[in-house]
Amino acid sequence: MLKTTSFLAATAAFAMTAVMATTWQVTPAMAEDAPVAATEITGDAAKGKRVFNRCKACHTVEEGGPNRVGPNLYGVVGAEFGHIEGYKFSPALMELKAEGKVWDVATLDAYLKQPKDVIPGGSMAFVGLRKDSDRADVIAYLATFGGPEAAPAE
Ligand code: HEC
Repeated sequence: MLKTTSFLAATAAFAMTAVMATTWQVTPAMAEDAPVAATEITGDAAKGKRVFNRCKACHTVEEGGPNRVGPNLYGVVGAEFGHIEGYKFSPALMELKAEGKVWDVATLDAYLKQPKDVIPGGSMAFVGLRKDSDRADVIAYLATFGGPEAAPAE
């Protein structure tokens, strides 16, 4: 009974994602591994490009782009905290980096929702993206710019 319900939910989620996703291939296997949004790249990179306009005051994303108020974000998806050289990250972020923290999809999602939840004392002064789909889409967009998580799983 419970199994049937969750299968139906997963099927519905898959059907919706399949309609919405234009760039990323979503397989039924991924849809059954809920919570999808926390572990896999499910967003729409094309929509994420527009969401990224809200990050642009502080971030570039293209390879070799300059740091602004925040670091260049090329290759950040799946990379370790403080993923590039030559940017002065906050001590709070560097402490978590030393603990081995990684920008996997779930961590990025939580950070972009409410930066202080992931890095209390961090220096990203951003109100957060409240819409789940905005976060999923911008993460999909970031993943088109390199990074370990952008590569197929081994
Ligand atoms: C007001 C400026 C500002 C805005 C807007 C902003 N950020 Fe940031 N971001 C920062 C700063 C500053 C840091 C460095 C944080 C630290 O050192 O604690 C940062 C760090 C990050 C990191 C961690 C990078 C790393 O290598 O550890 C990610 C990922 C990130 N931002 C993504 C985004 C995304 C995506 C958006 C838009 C949805 C965004 N940021 C909006 C200023 C901003």
